[in-house]
Amino acid sequence: MEKEISSNKMKPVSPSTLYSNCYGKYAIAAVNVFTMEQMHGLFSAAQDSATPIIVQLTPAARNYAHPKMLIAMVEAAAEIYPKTIYAVHLDHGVEEHIEDAINSRYTSVMIDASHDDFNNNVKRTKAVVKKAHSKKIVVEAELGVLSGVEDDLSIDESHARYTDPAQAKEFVQLTGCDSLAVAVGTSHGAYKFSGGKGLQFHVLEKIQNELPDYPLVLHGSSSVNKKEITEINQYGGKLNGNASGVTDEELKKAISYGICKVNIATDLRLLWAKVFRKFFHEQPDLFDPVIPGKEYMIAYKQFMIERFEILGSKGKAASINLN
Ligand code: 13P
Repeated sequence: MEKEISSNKMKPVSPSTLYSNCYGKYAIAAVNVFTMEQMHGLFSAAQDSATPIIVQLTPAARNYAHPKMLIAMVEAAAEIYPKTIYAVHLDHGVEEHIEDAINSRYTSVMIDASHDDFNNNVKRTKAVVKKAHSKKIVVEAELGVLSGVEDDLSIDESHARYTDPAQAKEFVQLTGCDSLAVAVGTSHGAYKFSGGKGLQFHVLEKIQNELPDYPLVLHGSSSVNKKEITEINQYGGKLNGNASGVTDEELKKAISYGICKVNIATDLRLLWAKVFRKFFHEQPDLFDPVIPGKEYMIAYKQFMIERFEILGSKGKAASINLN
């Protein structure tokens, strides 16, 4: 049934507001959204389960859908699901996207200069912080290098580097960034942990000791469910079945070490591939995108509500102090 559009939509909130409510207790799912189906799935899951969320838009998503289309979809979703508490974040931005984002409806931007040397990362992050803060927009920065594939960037494992805890403190002091993405063993994409190493809690613990009460961000947090990979392959896919993602237990444990934001993209792509491959395999005579699209929205919503439960954020919207 078509939903009524309410004019009482929530304005996007700052992630800092969410972090001051959740630190050490639960984490906010930050979900990369590319399409209309994903926008519905995410907002309806958040509203129906009373969960605060961060909607993430990447340069690749902006390139695919168009920056104006993406932000218009966020605004429409906020009207269709008016009780949702959400922040709008630019994921893995560089200066050109940040310039546009801080003049648009974003409440948060990430400057990813993690591939530069320390001094250059500091310099670029500091400049972005100055500009963004003047518009009351918060900044996530990154120190350390994650391996894996994130949109058009691919980093192999030999170039990955854990975040140095002492440097992390210096970096935050020098730049004034509001949250820090740390490299503690996760990687982007569907092929994480093929070496079976998992999250490096000894590194995370040291970072938290250096930066107590400071919000940390976990990139590469998808669970890469083996059952999903098996089904994708069963219906014609050719994905590596040996890879695994971050376990639910690791995510829960990471929260007590200061992880406030948990980035998820891959799991929803895998879900898309599963739903569409299965649908067209079982019904090869159909060709209408709307039918599997609807199935994807339902499966997406279900998946996100389960993630919110794991992250402890389900039901927390009512207790967020928005002042
Ligand atoms: P995944 O590839 O594990 O979903 O991570 C996404 C991410 O970190 C986006 O910034």
